[in-house]
Amino acid sequence: MRLIFLGPPGAGKGTQASRVATILDVPHISTGAMLRDHIADGTDLGRQAAERMEAGDLVPDDLVIAMLTDRIAGEDAVPGFILDGFPRNLAQARALRASPGGVVDRVVLLIVDESEIVRRISGRRCCSRGHTFHLDDQPPARPGVCDVDGDPLEQRPDDSEEVVRNRLAVYGRETEPLIGYYEELGLIVEIKASGPIPHITKQILEAVRA
Ligand code: AP5
Repeated sequence: MRLIFLGPPGAGKGTQASRVATILDVPHISTGAMLRDHIADGTDLGRQAAERMEAGDLVPDDLVIAMLTDRIAGEDAVPGFILDGFPRNLAQARALRASPGGVVDRVVLLIVDESEIVRRISGRRCCSRGHTFHLDDQPPARPGVCDVDGDPLEQRPDDSEEVVRNRLAVYGRETEPLIGYYEELGLIVEIKASGPIPHITKQILEAVRA
């Protein structure tokens, strides 16, 4: 199954994509995580992306589209995938649809109030490998330490209040128009993404399997 998870920053795209991908046995492909890996590895792409990401702006389309289309051409993505954070504007959506294997089965739109988004992002803590926790809702077993690999947990550099405000504005301007684009294609399923994480996972699975 080929799925896109769409929603504002902090909606839970990464949390749910990781859980649903494990259940469906397909790769979870997060362009944000791929770009953070490039920055950590000091690649050319990472250097070109860093400043934009720190400010909460989108990384240029040509860079992200090339990175993503290359990734979905991988053998592990042939049976399906979940895209988290891509596409983020109409140019990316059209490029995806035109690329081999880029026609998706469903677009899962996660709906969350803005006050809940702010609460989630301010409490989010991640390790350098991208495992994600929340101080109140998904606390690690030992404070400040990743349950998976024992690495320290930190706040993402783009989770400061000012940058989050810009990320939300960019979402409204660039990404929200995708809702209409995918509605016209008959692909959108809406999920109310507040409440217990396992309950939301169950709702997503029911919706995409219907
Ligand atoms: P990216 O990493 O994609 O960030 P984002 O879209 O802003 O999304 P987030 O990762 O902030 O949130 P999420 O929805 O995944 O929520 P999460 O599951 O973590 O992108 C970062 C940057 O990279 C962009 O700003 C841009 O610069 C660049 N970029 C990436 N893709 C790009 C593209 N295609 N084109 C151009 N540039 C691109 O959950 C949030 C918190 O809430 C966690 O702490 C979690 O534990 C908690 N939580 C989750 N679900 C629940 C729940 N049900 N109840 C309570 N708490 C919950």
